Amino acid sequence: MLKEIGGLLGNIVLILFLLALLNYVVKYINRNYRKQLMKNEAGYQLFTKVMRFTVKNHKYFGLTVIIFLLLHFAVQMNLYGINITGAIAAVIMLVQIGLGYYGTRAKNKGKTWLKAHRLIAVLLSISVLTHLAFG
Ligand code: HEM
Ligand code: HEM
Repeated sequence: MLKEIGGLLGNIVLILFLLALLNYVVKYINRNYRKQLMKNEAGYQLFTKVMRFTVKNHKYFGLTVIIFLLLHFAVQMNLYGINITGAIAAVIMLVQIGLGYYGTRAKNKGKTWLKAHRLIAVLLSISVLTHLAFG
């Protein structure tokens, strides 16, 4: 039973992480394919809704990760002890969340933090994939 719960919690972390990543994907689509999308009015309206929802809730997806990451960590730690790939992904994840929080709070912050936030998103994706592939 605890094994299933640990797995479920890991999957929730993964889904919230993917929802946070969508922020980039929807903006990318909007930047590069808006004209094509606009040819289909209903499709474009739906896409706009999804984009607004994704962008508006970006920080909440990221912040909610903390809760499920801690729970996943607690359960897996209990069952299996420390997991190196998971621990690396978790540390990068916490840096990413901290940086995102900084980005929303700090004044006169410039764009450097956002470049770092994008770069860390790539590193985080690699580390999460490593965790999923090698356990
Ligand atoms: C960004 C952070 C993390 C993500 C996205 C993540 C996600 C996942 C997912 C989706 C699974 C597969 C669950 C299943 O369907 O059975 C999993 C398994 C696991 N995770 Fe994590 N996890 C993270 C961090 C951690 C941390 C910090 C630990 C440290 C204890 C950990 C330990 C484990 C273990 C032991 C397994 C089972 C591996 C196996 O069955 O071989 N994870 N994780
Ligand atoms: C799971 C963790 C997270 C990931 C993977 C992530 C990823 C990203 C990515 C890829 C972008 C760039 C979007 C673009 O190119 O325009 C971005 C932007 C941003 N992120 Fe995050 N982020 C995470 C967590 C957070 C958190 C927790 C916050 C705030 C509390 C945050 C605040 C922001 C802000 C303010 C922006 C720029 C404005 C915007 O696009 O909304 N992020 N994030």
